[in-house]
Amino acid sequence: ESIEKGGFEHFMLKEIFEQPKSVKDSMRGRISAEKGQIMLGGLREYLDKLTQAQRIIILGCGTSWHAGLVAEYIFEEYARIPVEVEYASEFRYRNPVINPEDIVIAISQSGETADTLAAIELAKSKGAVIFGVCNVVGASIPRATHAGAYTHAGPEIGVASTKAFTAQVTVLSMMAIVAAKSRGTISDKVYRELLTAFEDIPVKIQQALNSNAQIKYIADIFKDARNFLYLGRGYNFPVALEGALKLKEISYIHAEGYPAAEMKHGPIALIDEEMPVVFIATKDSSYEKIVSNIQEVRARKGRVIAVVTEGDQLIKQMAEFVIEIPATHEALTPILAVIPLQLLSYYIAVMRGCNVDQPRNLAKSVTVE
Ligand code: G6P
Repeated sequence: ESIEKGGFEHFMLKEIFEQPKSVKDSMRGRISAEKGQIMLGGLREYLDKLTQAQRIIILGCGTSWHAGLVAEYIFEEYARIPVEVEYASEFRYRNPVINPEDIVIAISQSGETADTLAAIELAKSKGAVIFGVCNVVGASIPRATHAGAYTHAGPEIGVASTKAFTAQVTVLSMMAIVAAKSRGTISDKVYRELLTAFEDIPVKIQQALNSNAQIKYIADIFKDARNFLYLGRGYNFPVALEGALKLKEISYIHAEGYPAAEMKHGPIALIDEEMPVVFIATKDSSYEKIVSNIQEVRARKGRVIAVVTEGDQLIKQMAEFVIEIPATHEALTPILAVIPLQLLSYYIAVMRGCNVDQPRNLAKSVTVE
């Protein structure tokens, strides 16, 4: 087992550090900025269907559902197709409206999650075309779908999903850009910028991982907290949810992810000098808004840890700790911003003596209801 961990103390840490490679693998042979091309071979037969889709319904559970939320932003922004992201477990029992013009995208690392599989069967029976975004080749979900794209992240052993998430977001983002190009809803300029941004992402993940020692230091300061709040806006809202989920799963600290602007409708009541608040506050279209959210937390003496874009000076003056990630295209920010949050939860859990690879009560894949 120690050989399989490749010198890392846990599978989770190994998998976090594998992300420059796993994300690269998820793009391999599919994207070329030089040629101005993105191709997802597994969708070729259904590209017309995707181009003409009236609506996309995304299904998943847990971390895969969070990847779906990121996809909602990018599909709507660039492909201009309305998207709904659904928990598979709710969808299957709700008598949902499904039309033959709908495309359903089912996301699953394991490809075996019972609720996701059942939701697919329901959508199929109503005539929808189903795409799969799965990691495990040949699993039940990819076999049940009409088409799809594997994430190619390699085996994920740690129960808390890390590299599967970044690969899912990468593949879903590529899918959205393929759809946008084919529908003619994206300008050539933005298309080219995005392609270049995809190609640069693995190196930038590597740079984001360089904050490892600093994150360990921050983890030591906050390891005894009883609650955590994670806040983000836009593309970083799903990242806030995923950061909170990681912490809950492996450290057993109560954590909530929230859209930063919703804070004033509830969570702000929780803020006092004991409450760590993790902001995902990169330089993007909601930057100014999130800066004022940070001020609101500071005014109530909350302890702010902020994930910021390299070189940010303003937030550095306001937050107790900042963790820098490289700048990228706004739509691809989640792939970088989640990295420090994975590391933060990992180190906090290790310092609390938790079994990070096999947290209590959780399973890697939930094949029963
Ligand atoms: C379990 C795992 C999570 C995972 C979820 C969905 O709860 O512990 O890490 O996100 O199932 O799994 P899937 O394999 O469908 O992505």
